Amino acid sequence: MPAERKKLFIKTWGCQMNVYDSERMADVVAPLGYAPTENVGEADLVILNTCHVREKATEKLFSELGRLRLHQKAKAEEGGRMLVAVAGCVAQAEGPEIRRRAPYVDMVFGPQTYHQLPEMIARVSRDAGAVLNVEFPPEAKFDALPEERANTGVSAFLSVQEGCDKFCTFCVVPYTRGAEYSRPAAAIIAEAERLIGNGVREITLLGQNVNAYHGEGTDGKVWGLGRLFYRLAEISGLKRLRYTTSHPRDMDDELIAAHRDIAQLMPFLHLPVQSGSDVILEAMNRKHNAADYMRAVARLRAAKPDMALSSDFIIGFPGESDTDFKATLDLVRAVDYAQAFSFKYSRRPGTPAATMPNQVEEKVKDERLAELQALLRAQQEKFNRGMLGRDLPVLFENPGDEAGMLFGRSPYMQAVRVPGSPRLVGQEMIVRIGKTGLNVLNGSLPMADAA
Ligand code: SAH
Ligand code: SF4
Ligand code: F3S
Repeated sequence: MPAERKKLFIKTWGCQMNVYDSERMADVVAPLGYAPTENVGEADLVILNTCHVREKATEKLFSELGRLRLHQKAKAEEGGRMLVAVAGCVAQAEGPEIRRRAPYVDMVFGPQTYHQLPEMIARVSRDAGAVLNVEFPPEAKFDALPEERANTGVSAFLSVQEGCDKFCTFCVVPYTRGAEYSRPAAAIIAEAERLIGNGVREITLLGQNVNAYHGEGTDGKVWGLGRLFYRLAEISGLKRLRYTTSHPRDMDDELIAAHRDIAQLMPFLHLPVQSGSDVILEAMNRKHNAADYMRAVARLRAAKPDMALSSDFIIGFPGESDTDFKATLDLVRAVDYAQAFSFKYSRRPGTPAATMPNQVEEKVKDERLAELQALLRAQQEKFNRGMLGRDLPVLFENPGDEAGMLFGRSPYMQAVRVPGSPRLVGQEMIVRIGKTGLNVLNGSLPMADAA
């Protein structure tokens, strides 16, 4: 019997892991008849996939839920029903609070339970009561997710690792995603092969601590991420490999060697340092100091001289002095980043840093953030300007927003816009860079290829 046609609307916040999870949730409910929609008003099932990493994220969720309540009521007045679900890290951390503040939410469930969505939907559909499901068995989840993946495009995410055992003192992730878990290599290789078979050309391996990967290899031994890359690079048709997010402590020799040996492994790495001050890094429980980080960068650049780097920074961590902040600026100057994200420290209840003395004043955080961001912006512009007149291989991902234009990425993750035919989507081609800005490079294809 064909499933009834229904509409699914998913909104995603947070990291790439959540983006991957949202795609997988859509795959899980597809056999129940749910097809994606962009129009929340017509949805039969709405999933908000949330992030808990900074304070604003939770407030955004509650304002979104307020708006959804109106859609839900309108749908009920027409005799329909809109199921509302909250997934992700806020659900994991604040499940009971969500149930209390928004009793019209039908389902609240954490990141390890997505494979149980059909049962949860069946339960609320027969009015057997709302669902609150914040269990923690990641193995069960990956084993039970469907093999088929829809709409993976040219560049796809593939989760290889989940959870974190590092317990940085500012961070909620070890609490919301649980302990580290690495998927067996065989399951990852099979998923990668299916993706390539569907037309994917670039795969980004995901994990909260992706380079701490230590999964069961196909030879029964424990494989690190480097070993996994050597194996994945054998898949024909796979043009590009990336991975995120890495911890500086886990850049082992095999992974560095993979950067030297594997042409598909792109010369760009997001390697968050958070601060350049050893005092602050210690208080953050990062388990590395500034010199360790600079050594990791030097080893990467020795293996791959054109390696471009990105990072996350937290400004105004408790106790951060002017001297500490200057050490961060010094580290930024020494690394010379291609891009980076920076955030004001946000107190997360339940984490050790939330109750540390010497919380930094908001005004000081604002000033320091502005100074850091100006420096990072200048580095990014300079990095992009360095591409002027160069020929870069660009993998075309989609036709972009404007007619006659193609959107792709350089090896260094830069967005590239090029006039060209949509039939080139999925191809990697050499582009001459003609104009550069902060967020995009403009280029052109040789005349013969552009048509
Ligand atoms: N696993 C990754 C990223 C985790 S969260 C890592 O180890 O780097 C993504 C980023 O959010 C972090 O790198 C950090 O810069 C930022 N972040 C996490 N907790 C934060 C907090 N309490 N306040 C401000 N930024 C935070
Ligand atoms: Fe959070 Fe630190 Fe783990 Fe990254 S390594 S997820 S910042 S605890
Ligand atoms: Fe946010 Fe959870 Fe990712 S807290 S950053 S969605 S792991």
